[in-house]
Amino acid sequence: MFDLNEVSFRYPDAAALCGVTLSIAARQRIALLGANGSGKSTLLRLLDGLAFAESGTITFNGKCLTSAQFEEEAFAFDFRRRVALVFQNPDVQLFNPTVFDELAFAPLQLRWPNDEIRARIADLLQTMGLAHLAERAPHRLSEGEKKRVALASVMITQPDVLLLDEPTASLDPRSRNFMIEYLLDCRGRRTVITATHDLHILEEIADYCFVLHEGRLVAAGAPNELLADEKLLRETGLVHAHRHRHEGGVVHSHPHDHHSPSGAHRHS
Ligand SMILES: Nc1ncnc2c1ncn2[C@@H]1O[C@H](COP(=O)(O)OP(=O)(O)OP(=O)(O)O)[C@@H](O)[C@H]1O
Ligand SMILES: [Mg+2]
Repeated sequence: MFDLNEVSFRYPDAAALCGVTLSIAARQRIALLGANGSGKSTLLRLLDGLAFAESGTITFNGKCLTSAQFEEEAFAFDFRRRVALVFQNPDVQLFNPTVFDELAFAPLQLRWPNDEIRARIADLLQTMGLAHLAERAPHRLSEGEKKRVALASVMITQPDVLLLDEPTASLDPRSRNFMIEYLLDCRGRRTVITATHDLHILEEIADYCFVLHEGRLVAAGAPNELLADEKLLRETGLVHAHRHRHEGGVVHSHPHDHHSPSGAHRHS
């Protein structure tokens, strides 16, 4: 579905991606891993056609994603209908006066029948625990509430390709669980590309992972393979050295994995 060949991208003051080559098949669930600043959000922006490769190529079902391609109205409409990004920062996403309007926006653009829009919104408000917020202004909600509204506003149209930037960040356990259940349900059915630091949930949300480090693709593999590679996780900043105190008062540090409760260090 997506093929990237030697893709590089830089912002005016910083290089963000350097020579990234990878492929993503339809109905694969992909996790993008990497420390802060490693290029995950930038890669999602390129996959969403919000920015374009400076060198190298990105194709979507064989069509090269360039600004010229997006000027072709039929292509742009079809792409926007099929591919959707949930931003890391929900403030970027939310612009409607109420939560209800926020959820109605995309279906109205797609000219769904009004009854269907209302039924689908009611359903999603319920499952996302947002029903009591339907008439509230999105930009005056809590961070986690905003994130849930942003997710719902994109999920409502059930796009073929979901690009999720840190979807579980700032979610409480119940909403986080809803998100994980949703991504489990996408297995084998939907293309979902998720940028995350949340190694605990990797095996549930992804079939395959790419690891970015300083804008370069440094590893790829199944979640269990990557999670077993402690050296890689440490070198790419995905696990950290953990300081703790032993009985007897000695403090030392060693790598601490947050993803496997069984292998995790027990504090004394
Ligand atoms: N709008 C911007 N203008 C200039 N530089 C930027 C901008 N956004 C990101 N960068 C830079 O590009 C690089 C990649 O950033 P990006 O946001 O893609 O990282 P990330 O992996 O998503 O990080 P995080 O885990 O913090 O979300 C970083 O060096 C960052 O400082
Ligand atoms: Mg990011």
